[in-house]
Amino acid sequence: MLPAMVKKPRIVIVGPGRLGSALTLELKQAGYRISEIISRKSPASRREGAALARKVKARASTCDNPHLDADIVWFCVPDREIAAAARQLALVIDWKKKIAFHSSGALLSDELDSLRRRGAAVASVHPLMTFVYGSVPSLSGVHFAVEGDTAAVDAARRIVRDLRGEVFTIPKQHKAAYHAWGAFASPLLVATLVTAEQVARKAGLSAAESRKKMLPIVRQTVANYELLGPAGAFSGPIVRGDAEIVRKHLQVLKKIPEARNVYRALARVALRHLPVRNRAKLKEALEL
Ligand SMILES: NC(=O)c1ccc[n+]([C@@H]2O[C@H](COP(=O)([O-])OP(=O)(O)OC[C@H]3O[C@@H](n4cnc5c(N)ncnc54)[C@H](OP(=O)(O)O)[C@@H]3O)[C@@H](O)[C@H]2O)c1
Repeated sequence: MLPAMVKKPRIVIVGPGRLGSALTLELKQAGYRISEIISRKSPASRREGAALARKVKARASTCDNPHLDADIVWFCVPDREIAAAARQLALVIDWKKKIAFHSSGALLSDELDSLRRRGAAVASVHPLMTFVYGSVPSLSGVHFAVEGDTAAVDAARRIVRDLRGEVFTIPKQHKAAYHAWGAFASPLLVATLVTAEQVARKAGLSAAESRKKMLPIVRQTVANYELLGPAGAFSGPIVRGDAEIVRKHLQVLKKIPEARNVYRALARVALRHLPVRNRAKLKEALEL
């Protein structure tokens, strides 16, 4: 354990965006001192940074005048900016005995190599959770995929435990697949729901109406998935083997080719991985 790690470490957050804002508030709530919020220097970014800093009584600064007076620097910038943001801060302080994290699900801790070379222990620390403006999700029970240097991984374990989350280590070679999995769990789930909204239009419902009307079935489906697993949660014409209904769906979806492609792709997955009746006829219907 690094000497600075005996007490709760002080943390700098770089990037007061969706993740950075929520994480800052959660860390503060868990008893961590956030010493600084570093934003970009555009007026809008500075405003975001200053507003967040006020909430947790931290210093607000920009990437060209940082103080970095902390034990841990947590990069919450977009994936494509991580390496450059790290390089920009690499020469500002002595990084020996410091720890740096980034939170990309797909990229390796190696994005922080410029800091590693200067003595920092680095890790990627990715919460398997969605962060959007307007909501601060609880991190209790959230799984964090961690990969990197031992001292940094150990520090991440302690922080995640204080956030009441769970840590699991992810081998470097699995990170891209891990993150693609995460994409299905949230952003592509939302994309599926937006596809459903497009289809609802063909049934004469506005997007807002369809959203309101389908939320109970969406919620119940997720609840069934949790309680009964995928096979138990699977209902509809495919599990019943109603190939003619599937044909009808595909016919009407000719008017929305995008939705038709999604339907066929997902139905093929169902045919391979879920219980279905009348598989051969369903397959035939899907190939038309
Ligand atoms: N959102 C999620 O659900 C989620 C979940 C897990 C992990 N993550 C990870 O979290 C990281 C951030 O994602 P996000 O969704 O929070 O992105 P975001 O909402 O776009 O926030 C990024 C923030 O970083 C700032 N920024 C960009 N370059 C910077 C620099 N050089 N110095 C200081 N600040 C800089 C941006 O400022 P401007 O607005 O001025 O550009 C913005 O405030 C990514 O690595 C992502 O993979 C996100």
